[in-house]
Amino acid sequence: MNRPVQNICCIGAGYVGGPTMAMIAQQCPEISVHVVDINQDRIDAWNSDRLPIYEPGLDDVVKAARGRNLTFSTDIDRAIATAEMVFISVNTPTKTFGVGAGRAANLEFVEKCARTIARVSKGHKIVVEKSTLPVRTAEAVRRILASSAGAATFDVLSNPEFLAEGTAVEDLLDPDRVLIGGESAEAVESLVAIYANWVPRDRILTTNLWSSELSKLTANAFLAQRVSSINAISALCEATGADVDEVANAIGADSRIGPKFLKASVGFGGSCFQKDILNLVYLCEHFGLPKVAKYWEQVVRMNDHQRSRFAARIVRTMFNTVSDKQIGIWGFAFKKDTNDTRESAAIYVCRDLLRERARLVIYDPQVSEDQIRLDLEQSCRHPRTGEISSADRQVLEQHVTIAASAEDAARDAHAVAVLTEWDAFADLDFANIRRQMPSPAFLFDGRNLLDHKSLRALGFEVHAIGKSPQPLVQP
Ligand code: UDX
Ligand code: UDX
Repeated sequence: MNRPVQNICCIGAGYVGGPTMAMIAQQCPEISVHVVDINQDRIDAWNSDRLPIYEPGLDDVVKAARGRNLTFSTDIDRAIATAEMVFISVNTPTKTFGVGAGRAANLEFVEKCARTIARVSKGHKIVVEKSTLPVRTAEAVRRILASSAGAATFDVLSNPEFLAEGTAVEDLLDPDRVLIGGESAEAVESLVAIYANWVPRDRILTTNLWSSELSKLTANAFLAQRVSSINAISALCEATGADVDEVANAIGADSRIGPKFLKASVGFGGSCFQKDILNLVYLCEHFGLPKVAKYWEQVVRMNDHQRSRFAARIVRTMFNTVSDKQIGIWGFAFKKDTNDTRESAAIYVCRDLLRERARLVIYDPQVSEDQIRLDLEQSCRHPRTGEISSADRQVLEQHVTIAASAEDAARDAHAVAVLTEWDAFADLDFANIRRQMPSPAFLFDGRNLLDHKSLRALGFEVHAIGKSPQPLVQP
């Protein structure tokens, strides 16, 4: 029987590393959990009352353990040296340069972590891949550890994270499954024992390393594929008069299909779906499977199409021009209940509207003004040179305002576009909002969040995803 792990270190205090480690610390008071990161500001925020990420319920989990058996610091070497188990949870963005640019994962940070672990380790350590990685990365990590280490020895495990942002605490507390891949039964058992403190044993699946790595990419590819599939059908619904929510409901009632991930939207976002599919595409190409690569690539292309189709519909509906018209944007995060904007559909829709010279007034309950401006600026950069034209810069400076509330964003606007499904947007005084907008008051619901019938009765002209436009109901 192994000695239970008493000291854990996690490199990377992001959306994955922070909540996951806080949950382990809360559930396992006898284990010391040290979360480290190169970013001092992020660590300071984890140690403050205002955590760097917004996640319902997370404050309580962190408060329960911080200072007891959970620490956040930038002292990476020391945390590694004292840990028996080291999680790698650094980011693995899509490469923007060199071989595989636009598809392959950039493993620079993972490799640096492996080298640091090798340099500071003594004795035996279990290294756990938490970051989503291309299949067979564990092999590379193992070789780096073996070749650069002194006398230290290592086992490498894959333990991909399946939490979704916005529901991270629930997902961690009550996961559908925990997946652990590894070659050494003893190392696998050490990690199983940690999760078994709160997760039923039959939900802890153990596999070989490669199956574990591939399962993460496959799970995200399947989920994203469902969203792209229903979004593809939404275009057909708009053309034919079918209603995409009714279609989703009807097909979701088939237990073989199931109801989840069938919500038509302005497009999926987030740090994982696109990146992981592109990663899968790259792997397929690498292993000489171009037809399989093309199949999965289409899921991402469909998503691109859905975002641009939505922006184009706004322009077309507003008499083919939005130039100098004010459009209120409700929501900028990639989904509700998070402040994360990575790959958010809102970025692309706003960029397209700005290219049409619309004036945007943007409101999101959790995303900061700096983040919104940074994302829009990035979206206007030339993909190769990184430059922004002077015309684009002028539009970014003069056509973007950040509002303090949804009502402020809608005041005097020719149209409002719902881009994130924050619950609060469904609960506003729409009669009052309508009075403050000129006619026709357009409302574009990119999330099918609002009650379209009552909005029409109030005099809004509503256009929604996967629904053919219906005439205005005269009040
Ligand atoms: C990231 C990846 O996006 C995801 O694929 C993977 O599954 C887990 O890690 P996330 O936690 O959302 O997810 O990323 P992010 O919020 O960017 O956090 C990564 C952290 O690692 C950052 O705080 C960054 O400062 C830190 N980091 C990065 C290091 O501490 N060292 C490095 O060398 C690189
Ligand atoms: C995803 C996976 O769900 C999670 O298991 C993995 O660990 C990380 O990637 P996340 O990206 O945080 O999680 O959120 P998710 O709930 O999957 O939503 C992703 C995107 O798809 C969001 O933009 C969301 O709005 C969109 N979506 C989701 C839809 O448009 N329709 C749906 O029915 C579901």
